Amino acid sequence: IDFRKVQFLLSAHAIGQLPAPVYPDIAFAGRSNVGKSSLLNRLVDRSNLVKTSSKPGKTQSLNYFLVEESLYLVDLPGYGYAQVSQQTRQSWQGLITEYVTTRSTLACVVVIIDLRHELKQLDRELVDWLRYLDTPYLPVYTKADKLSRNQQMKNAAALDAGLTLTADDRIIFSSSTGQGLDSLRSRLSGFARS
Ligand code: GTP
Ligand code: MG
Repeated sequence: IDFRKVQFLLSAHAIGQLPAPVYPDIAFAGRSNVGKSSLLNRLVDRSNLVKTSSKPGKTQSLNYFLVEESLYLVDLPGYGYAQVSQQTRQSWQGLITEYVTTRSTLACVVVIIDLRHELKQLDRELVDWLRYLDTPYLPVYTKADKLSRNQQMKNAAALDAGLTLTADDRIIFSSSTGQGLDSLRSRLSGFARS
């Protein structure tokens, strides 16, 4: 699968607007501003296919992209952003919850976590919830370029411990340098429809 053969499909504000479940979905989830949209741009090798922002709360709907005729990539709104109204937060949360629990073709949730910080409770809760639902997930520790190699290893080990993972279960990544891109592509291509 060539992730560069990608096209924008639609932006869904309600579950009823999702495309027919023809291809497997890979969804990208994580805290607001963690770098979900940037990771997607890097994955498909486009600087600006997905809108990014230095301000949290940029992605507000489920944005669908189709890769070749084999895979949907789904950019999700971020969680944990206190600055939007409670009503907005709850409507995004509701949409994500409904999406993850009802989408029959959801193949994998990429859980994106900031490598610079300690594990946040919401990240832990997301992983626990995906385990409970038996939904495949792939943790990606991003913004690695902001740390030395030594600090990357230290912080990754702490996140691994917090999530009860081993190093094989996750990827250290940077949207700026492309670190981890090959591993990410090879892990995700396993979910494509052949
Ligand atoms: P929301 O849609 O608001 O939830 O945010 P998001 O998770 O999609 O984050 P987005 O990709 O918009 O990136 C947020 C900010 O982090 C932007 O200023 C990006 O340039 C920056 N950023 C994202 N990934 C990286 C990375 O790997 N390294 C560095 N240095 N900056 C990054
Ligand atoms: Mg975004």
